[in-house]
Amino acid sequence: MVRYVTSNPGKAREAAAYLGTDVETIDYEYLEPQADDLEPVARYGARAAFDGLSGDEPVIVDDAGLFIEAFDGFPGPYSSYVEDTLGIELVAEIARGATDQRASFRAVIGYCDGSVTETFAGRVRGQIVAPRGDGGFGYDPIFEHGDRTFAEMSVEEKNAHSHRARALERFAAWYDAHRESD
Ligand code: IMP
Repeated sequence: MVRYVTSNPGKAREAAAYLGTDVETIDYEYLEPQADDLEPVARYGARAAFDGLSGDEPVIVDDAGLFIEAFDGFPGPYSSYVEDTLGIELVAEIARGATDQRASFRAVIGYCDGSVTETFAGRVRGQIVAPRGDGGFGYDPIFEHGDRTFAEMSVEEKNAHSHRARALERFAAWYDAHRESD
């Protein structure tokens, strides 16, 4: 059993649908460091969550962000702050005023079992559009992949393409091999 630590119900839904019964979701907040990259944040978070929670079962955390090409990757690791301050409608409006609307979502899964800490990255490309759709969470309504935004997809459809699913896929492959070698 792996403990997926998040306070975001949208992430929990996607991880549970992807990983199935082998995962228990735990709502636990830990202090995140600020960094220009997702990887150190996920690495630190995995260790902090493992140390902060009681129990020996491994934990995974998930740090994600929206990287807009025309803004040199901004908001990237600052996505949460920008969503809370500007809001996704304004981000879309500003991005749609640029000549290039390409963007990507990235996610890094951090794993810690007390002795091993590892990270696994996933990425998906798309473009910024005016908000469409009621599903998903965060920036999903303004991120179009193919001809639909992530907010116009079911959890399963989003998982077939998303940055999070790709990172979870890499984690799951590593974890199976890691457990066998124990
Ligand atoms: P964090 O990983 O929880 O720190 O999320 C950073 C920011 O990215 C927050 O504003 C989230 O709402 C947003 N975010 C993270 N993952 C996704 C996603 O899969 N879709 C849309 N927005 C996301």
